[in-house]
Amino acid sequence: MLQAKGIKKSFGKLEILKGVDLDIHKAEIVTIVGPSGAGKSTLLHIIGTLDSPDAGNVHINGISISSLSPKKLSAFRNEHIGFIFQFHHLLPEFTALENICIPAFIAKKGKKETMLRAHELLELLGLSHRAEHKPNELSGGEQQRVAVARALINNPSIILADEPSGNLDSNNAESLHNLFVDLRDRLNQTLVIVTHNENLANMANRIVHMKDGLIIP
Ligand SMILES: Nc1ncnc2c1ncn2[C@@H]1O[C@H](COP(=O)(O)OP(=O)(O)OP(=O)(O)O)[C@@H](O)[C@H]1O
Ligand SMILES: [Mg+2]
Repeated sequence: MLQAKGIKKSFGKLEILKGVDLDIHKAEIVTIVGPSGAGKSTLLHIIGTLDSPDAGNVHINGISISSLSPKKLSAFRNEHIGFIFQFHHLLPEFTALENICIPAFIAKKGKKETMLRAHELLELLGLSHRAEHKPNELSGGEQQRVAVARALINNPSIILADEPSGNLDSNNAESLHNLFVDLRDRLNQTLVIVTHNENLANMANRIVHMKDGLIIP
């Protein structure tokens, strides 16, 4: 469902990605591992359409990303791709429920169906009792689960996560990892996760190793 071919990216004179090919299939968890500076986040941003490659192309659901206008691209991203980062990036002045709804409102979905879906997600993630709490009234693990719900609200084709458990203690990390597996098994969710966490890496269907801007076989 996602194909990246011949991806190259330089920042100034530094070639960071040197021709990366990556194929992601539906309902699989792929983890990307490798030393700091290998280009993992850069690759994730490119397959997430947040950044464009200097060479190569990305197809998602058969659509060539580079063919989309900037406006179409942001709509496409909002609808098809869910992001989870190391820090939750929840908006502090909004409740958990409201934070979860934001990507759906951006997609101009109706309020009623969105709220219904957000409540379902809160339930699924064991957070129903925290719906009206603001981010600073939630624990780190709860904040990250709200960020997962926000990533899921538009039923994205793929979830991309960069060090999602990097900021959590080992218990919260473990439940987040189990949640990812659950999302795959129960919702057929596709996930690509960059991580330094060995437990998480090993839970994947496939581990992709990166070094010096290349995937090593
Ligand atoms: N916007 C940018 N401008 C200049 N250099 C950048 C930029 N983004 C990344 N780099 C450089 O590209 C290289 C790869 O960065 P990237 O963030 O992809 O590494 P990473 O594999 O995710 O590392 P880590 O595990 O530490 O997160 C690094 O040397 C970084 O300094
Ligand atoms: Mg990184």
